[in-house]
Formats: sequence, structure tokens, C-alpha cells
Amino acid sequence: MTNRVTRISGSGSYLPDRILTNDELAAQIDTSDAWIRERTGIAQRHIAAEGQTTSDLGVEAARRALDDAGLTIADIDLIVVATTTPDFVFPSTATVIQARLGMDHGAAFDVQAVCSGFVYALSVTDALLKTGQHKRALLIGAETMSRILNWEDRSTCVLFGDGAGAWVLSAEEASPEAADRQPGVIGSYLRSDGRLKELLHTTGGPSSTRSSGYLVMQGNAVFRHAVVNISEAMTTLMRQHGLTGEDVDWFVPHQANQRILEAVAKRLGIASGKVISTVANHGNTSAASVPLAFDVAVQDGRIKRGDLCLLEALGGGLTWGSALVRY
Ligand code: ACO
Repeated sequence: MTNRVTRISGSGSYLPDRILTNDELAAQIDTSDAWIRERTGIAQRHIAAEGQTTSDLGVEAARRALDDAGLTIADIDLIVVATTTPDFVFPSTATVIQARLGMDHGAAFDVQAVCSGFVYALSVTDALLKTGQHKRALLIGAETMSRILNWEDRSTCVLFGDGAGAWVLSAEEASPEAADRQPGVIGSYLRSDGRLKELLHTTGGPSSTRSSGYLVMQGNAVFRHAVVNISEAMTTLMRQHGLTGEDVDWFVPHQANQRILEAVAKRLGIASGKVISTVANHGNTSAASVPLAFDVAVQDGRIKRGDLCLLEALGGGLTWGSALVRY
């Protein structure tokens, strides 16, 4: 188990075509472009088309990640999808994507940790690859948050968007090079506190109300928890691996709010030029936000092979966590 590493072999992402601007929202509800930009940093978000589902977004991101890795679906034996907006209660979105990609072997399942979903799913997938149970995985964060928003609630509907990001993760034998320079998943740290569920939840579910309900949030209370808990998760993980904010090449945070990203980076001594932010263009895409931001920075040449990246997220539950990966 200890001589295997989990490498990121490929990255991909997909955003629906439709862009919804702040001004369009301001024409429908009592808000303004200035309020949204100032409080969140968000300028626009992408919204899935009528009939376009989470699996549709996930399939596109997965295909792009496979292309980037130079692999085909025949090379994959595990699909893990982080989502809180599945196509169906069952089957899982992962098995829907498995069938759509033409994969008739291996295993597929979903992970539900809301906005922390990708970090949670990365931790689970890394463990399955390191035990040798699976060899190569598609790890996908995909969401259609627009489907669970109350579009009359200005305190939440301006914040979220739809999208998907994906990684191909490969189990490889560790090379003899120094462990701290070796590409791959270095570690992850997961936390939750179910007592805080009232701060961020949906108003329903199949077994309580027979419908999904819509998202409600006590924004400023979540904000305070986010800054404290995310900072603690990142500090703990870096300390476990003998690293500091100065060692990190890129900070790839969950894209909830520009003010949270900046506050956390400042607390950890991470220079603002190392923060990957897509919140202006994507809004909060929940479990898709970290792999989407990562892929944008790979595509534009900022994140390069060998770079040390620190990921984090916090979401409903509350759940939160962090991960360290060398690309
Ligand atoms: N337009 C105009 N005014 C608004 C809007 C809006 N869209 N939304 C709220 N307001 C008003 C409020 O009604 C309030 O008015 P009042 O003072 O008259 O009562 C005022 O603006 C201030 O509201 P706050 O909630 O205190 O504003 P805040 O500065 O905290 O910003 C925000 C709100 C953006 C939601 C922020 O708190 C935040 O980002 N919170 C964290 C979100 C997060 O990290 N979520 C976790 C992930 S999400 C997931 O897991 C699904």
C-alpha cells in the first residue's frame, strides 16, 4: 500500500453555454450587479439548458480529462462522482455516466458532501487506488445547482452556477525520487459537524417531503465558519506534511466567495498571486468548483507539472476538508 502513489494523469472541465449575468438577475429580483460583485466577487454564472442534466455535464468533463490523459474509457476501472444534484435518487450519477461512456467493467458510485464533495471524493478515490483495489479512476465533480435554488431568494440564487470538472487518477508505483517532490496526491484531511446543518441545507428530501426542496443558507454564519474551519483544515494538513503556505505553488479553493478566498489565503500566508479564482465567471458550482478552477489554471498554463497545489472546500453538513496534490 505504501509504495503506490495516485497521480493526476489528466484534467478536464465543462460549462453549459448559457451565461446568466448579474444584470439579468437584477431585472428579476431586488439585487444589483454592484451588490453581488462587492459581497461575493461574482460577475456571472453558467446555467444548464432545459433538459441538460448533471450527468450530461459530467460526461463532457470526463471525456476532456480522458483526452488530456491520452487514455480511453477502457483504461478506467472506477468512476466516482461528487454531486449533490444527481439526475435521479437512483441510479447514481456515476453509473449513469459509466453507461454513457460505454464502460461495462469496474465500479461506479456517488459521494455526497455538497460543496466539499470533490475533496471528499478525492480522499476516497486515493485510498481505493492506493490499496490496489482499483488501478485508474475518473473522479468527477458535477452539479446543476440551478435546479435546487429558490429563484426568488436573493440571498442564495445569485451565488450558484452549474458545471463539471474531472480528473483521471492513476495508481502508480512510487518512484525512488524524494517523497516530498513526487507527483501525486500527498494527503487529505476531512471534517464535518452535523450539528450545524441548519446553517445550510435543503428544505426537503425523498424520505421527508418526497421532493428535493430548495437550498437555504444563513450566509454570514456560514461565512464565519468557512474562514475558521478552512484555515484550520489547511494548517493541520500542511503541518502533518511539514509544509507551510510558502511551499505551496497554487491555492485552489472552493469558489464560494472572493472574500473567503482572500481571508483564508491571508491567514495562511499564501500570496494573492498564488490564488486560483474563477468565482467571478463561474459563481459557486459546489462539488464542481475545485476541479473547474484547477482545469482553468492548467489550461491557461499557470499550474504546471510538478507544482504543489493546496485544495480546500466547505459546504452543507457542515462538511469541510483540504487536500495536497503535486500535479
Ligand atoms: N442583493 C442585495 N442585497 C442582498 C442580497 C442580494 N443578492 N442578498 C442579501 N442581501 C441583503 C440582506 O438582506 C441584508 O440586508 P439587511 O442588512 O437589510 O438585512 C444585507 O444584504 C447583508 O446580508 P448578509 O447576509 O449579512 O451579507 P454578507 O455580507 O454576509 O454576504 C453572502 C452574503 C454573500 C451569502 C456571504 O455571507 C457568503 O458568501 N457566505 C458564505 C457562503 C458559503 O461559503 N457557502 C458554503 C458553500 S455553499 C454549499 O455548500 C451548497
